[in-house]
Amino acid sequence: MRSTLIAGNWKMNGSLQSIIQLIESIKAGGVGSAQLAVCPPAVYLMKVGGMLEGSDIALGSQNVCDQSSGAYTGEVSAQMLKEAGCSYAIVGHSERRSLYLESDALVANRYAMAVESGLVPILCLGETLEERQSGVTESVVGRQLDAVLEKFGVDAIAKGVIAYEPVWAIGTGQVATPEQAQMVHEFIRGKISALNSDVASKVQILYGGSMNPGNAAELLSQADIDGGLIGGASLKAADFLAIAQAV
Ligand code: 13P
Repeated sequence: MRSTLIAGNWKMNGSLQSIIQLIESIKAGGVGSAQLAVCPPAVYLMKVGGMLEGSDIALGSQNVCDQSSGAYTGEVSAQMLKEAGCSYAIVGHSERRSLYLESDALVANRYAMAVESGLVPILCLGETLEERQSGVTESVVGRQLDAVLEKFGVDAIAKGVIAYEPVWAIGTGQVATPEQAQMVHEFIRGKISALNSDVASKVQILYGGSMNPGNAAELLSQADIDGGLIGGASLKAADFLAIAQAV
């Protein structure tokens, strides 16, 4: 039986004051059975990590460098993230892929660096609206997954979490239907299962894209949906907690 992970991706939002309030409110709330994680902007990781000490809420980063140290201006290494208290690192978010041109190969290397350093990568996969409309969702998501599988093998997948985030559902309010999401989650698990059924049965596959307290329960009740990667709704403690309580 897979456990449920509800992770908040705060993206580039908030201020020192607002994130302190957000963490205090999340800590004060009841979360039910789900594992919670928050992924603040990098500059706030140390602060939030300190505030989360002694709580069950995990800390994650929004990205991780594919190199261990050196002349990589603007990047943050896996070891630095671990020192800040991170246990998770998002890699391959569609905003990184589309706005900052991160390739499948770079995302795979970031993923591997996280695994090698003992962080749990959250690998984001997802198709654009045009890709969905032209019927290539599975080949796009399959290609993104293969970038990790072909280079680092199914054992690397066993050490991470996958997040299916259809690009057309991110920040748009247009959530995938539970059936649409379940079909892609099943496809992802099936692809992993063809290589190793044990890894496939254990790997958590989260859904992300306009998840909110109103649609969370139905999405999370699907057989292959093991949690959520929440953007906008994770910036409001009450909504984030309500999603966790929907598990
Ligand atoms: P929204 O929940 O705002 O659609 O964002 C989803 C997302 O991109 C999480 O990584």
